[in-house]
Amino acid sequence: MSDVFKSRSLNVIEDFSIDERRYFFRKTKELKDAILSSDDDVMDKFRINDPDFGIYEVFLENSTRTKESFRNAAKFHHVKVSELLTSSSSINKGESYADTFNMLSGYQNVIFIVRSTVEGLTKWLSEETGEYAKRNGLPYRPAFINAGDGKHEHPTQELLDEFSFLEDNGMDFSHIHLALVGDLYHGRTVHSKADGLKLFDSVKVDLIAPDELMMPESYIDRMKENGFSVRIFPSIEEYLKCGDVALMWYFTRPQLERMGERILQKEAILREAITFREEFMPLIDPNTKFYHPLPRHKEHPTIPTFLDKTNFNAWERQAINGMYSRMVLLSLISGKIGDDFDGHMQKEPDYESEEYIIEVQPEDHPKKDKNYSEGVRPIRDGIVIDHICKGEEPKDIRTHMRLISSVLGLDDGKGGEWVSKGSDGKYKGIIFRPGEYELKRADLKRLAALAPNCTLNLIKDGKVEKKYRTHTPPRIYNFSDLSCSNEACISHPLSGEGVPASFHRTHDGKFECAYCGRVHTFKEIWKKN
Ligand code: NCD
Repeated sequence: MSDVFKSRSLNVIEDFSIDERRYFFRKTKELKDAILSSDDDVMDKFRINDPDFGIYEVFLENSTRTKESFRNAAKFHHVKVSELLTSSSSINKGESYADTFNMLSGYQNVIFIVRSTVEGLTKWLSEETGEYAKRNGLPYRPAFINAGDGKHEHPTQELLDEFSFLEDNGMDFSHIHLALVGDLYHGRTVHSKADGLKLFDSVKVDLIAPDELMMPESYIDRMKENGFSVRIFPSIEEYLKCGDVALMWYFTRPQLERMGERILQKEAILREAITFREEFMPLIDPNTKFYHPLPRHKEHPTIPTFLDKTNFNAWERQAINGMYSRMVLLSLISGKIGDDFDGHMQKEPDYESEEYIIEVQPEDHPKKDKNYSEGVRPIRDGIVIDHICKGEEPKDIRTHMRLISSVLGLDDGKGGEWVSKGSDGKYKGIIFRPGEYELKRADLKRLAALAPNCTLNLIKDGKVEKKYRTHTPPRIYNFSDLSCSNEACISHPLSGEGVPASFHRTHDGKFECAYCGRVHTFKEIWKKN
């Protein structure tokens, strides 16, 4: 048994490091070869082989391939395989997801495979059931596999897609040139590619879709940040004129069920731009391979059926690979394999060690003689929070100061808020509260989360007794006034699941929702009052 992958959840493709994914692909090749050559000894090395080990499928959205390949993969392991019939479960009596899955965790179910329209659901459930397992003394921590969450990610599809690319390039991780064609806006399988393709040392991606179906800006930005070279084309026809056409094309279908009325009306025109036509045949290299996560639409397939019997067809093998790759994923998460892994493991970032509240010596910054003609008078005892939202518009500064005052519990008592203009022409906010204030470390942390880059002065007998400078914390969570703006996210109030919002700071100072991955500016994470 190995602990490297044991009990790990796979919510997004980045939950596994590049080394871990490369290891996964090598193992998938090993198992696929063994199954195709009926090598029982190798197969047994992968098999969990425990009739009490529970694997549970919960599909809250339609599925054929993902669900059935996982079910068949689970059966390979000779374990207990169950499926929740969601149409007759207590979810329909208004039970929360947390209560439902906690319960199932208690019945010797160790791995859950979950598909849902709710983004970030498996991340939340892995946290909740982990706590449940601890409180109830369960001898395992339930692991979750995201089998597709709304428009967010589909990490196991990503694994099987990449395994199929690798089979076709001789397991070469050095580079890839891939065309993504179709509904790049709504399709989660292509969204997972923004991080998934980091697997290759050098990546060139061509995005082929009309504006309405183009990949959201945030994913394109992420691809560029990841060092991919990205080109954009409005249709296959235009793409074929560019002269540097990829040998790997990944098609997706228009995701009609996720489209609004406005786009649906233009469906036929949009489909035309992303559907392969017979007249294109002479224009592509005969070694080109077409992939598709499937399903294809029976009347309007973006890969027409005349291509099925040609060499372009890689999508059938790709779908079959779904089963092999999912067998291996279950071997890894159960702890059956993984002890020969010696690469870099994916680790949770260390949020605790970063210092973002810095105490500064008041005398290091001697006070100039100030002219208080604007109305602010120095206070004898109390607190002054200065430099709030520096550089923003007065109206926005005032709105944010109201939030700071309310969240820090400063609404009672004397004092006020002020907007002033510095000699640099920039506006800033000041909150002052005369009286006895004792701020604990938790309060300072809250202040940093609410007002990064401000200063806090504790004043006693007319002197600045203590002074702190706040910086943006690496993680902002635990405030009832926080909210993710994505209505499909598990942590959005609309989900009704009572999930507290949580954000991580990105390298460029924005805030990414810990559940659905949506990126926000600092202001956007605070609920509009
Ligand atoms: C994909 C999905 O569900 O996101 N299908 C799949 O898992 N094989 C793509 C799709 O539905 O078009």
